[in-house]
Amino acid sequence: MAKQRILSGIQPTGNLHLGNYLGAIRNWVDLQEEYDAFLFMADLHAITVPHDPTRLAEDTYKVAATYIACGIDPEKATIFVQSHLSAHSELAWLFNCITPLNWLERMIQFKEKAIKQGENVSIGLLDYPVLQAADILLYEPDLVPVGEDQKQHLELTRDIAARLNFQFGSEENPVLKVPEPMIRKEGARVMSLTDGSKKMSKSDPSDQSRIDLTDPPEVMVKKFKRAKTDPERGLWFDDPARPECHNLLTLYMLLSGQTKEAVAAECREMGWGQFKPLLAETAVEALSPIQARFNELMGDRAYLESILKTGDEKARALANQTLDRVKTALGYSKPL
Ligand code: TYM
Repeated sequence: MAKQRILSGIQPTGNLHLGNYLGAIRNWVDLQEEYDAFLFMADLHAITVPHDPTRLAEDTYKVAATYIACGIDPEKATIFVQSHLSAHSELAWLFNCITPLNWLERMIQFKEKAIKQGENVSIGLLDYPVLQAADILLYEPDLVPVGEDQKQHLELTRDIAARLNFQFGSEENPVLKVPEPMIRKEGARVMSLTDGSKKMSKSDPSDQSRIDLTDPPEVMVKKFKRAKTDPERGLWFDDPARPECHNLLTLYMLLSGQTKEAVAAECREMGWGQFKPLLAETAVEALSPIQARFNELMGDRAYLESILKTGDEKARALANQTLDRVKTALGYSKPL
């Protein structure tokens, strides 16, 4: 039987952080064994907020190198660049014409980002989830493994697919396959180091709020040392009054590869002064080999280019099939 398929992507904007790793990439590494994985760099999404054209291409390579450095195996997974395949933009346009405006106006991420940008907010930012729906539905994945913050976008993707199927397909012959989100419980929402009620985010103006995957060891140590905590003694999970404590314990659990029970028992009596250096050391240990591999890969552009060339080609074949099917369902003539 053919393997089931997963698809996911990350925007090449700024440095990737622990949230991206623990909420997304780490899970893909596990899933690539069992699933046919399609993983891409969402560089069309990266320009929905003001961007630096001198960095876009380089940042895209950096994300590809990060995937591989974290353990994505290019022999197993297909790694490609969104903007290299025109099918993404083209399907997004077709979806634009069947998606009600008010579905987009209620997207939480749009509202949050739009507030930050004031009057300069672009149509692209509003339309962002439609492009994401195209990214996903082109590849007919069974599952889309993401962090918690993408849940609403995946619901919209399912709604767009269902609407198009209803309007232009039939129950026996749907045009698009409706995928399921896959959001793991642990790590799906890594929180900011400066405020345990906010998620760790690339767009947070404070560097101190996140651990970047490329942070040198001394920077990680400093960031954990300064991370917000509380005056309680003893550390435990799941206390709504102690969001920072829950977050830092969860990071320790995931980075050390231990069970929740083991971490709860180990840290029950600890104070912050003992726990923070332990967490920092564990993070440095987990990320050092990733950083070494990342630097190696960034020094071998020819290798990265060959991976992306193969990935683009494989992705294009699949994407064009779906795009053709949608265009036919919508009634377009075929180019002669
Ligand atoms: P992006 O680039 O913001 O984030 C990439 C992935 O990292 C996860 N993530 C987190 N997980 C846990 N804790 C956090 N603090 C945290 N911050 C980010 C995200 O949930 C995501 O899985 N719109 C997407 C990119 C995209 C996409 C797609 C994803 C475009 N098309 C199609 C899946 C399928 C985004 O901006 O992710």
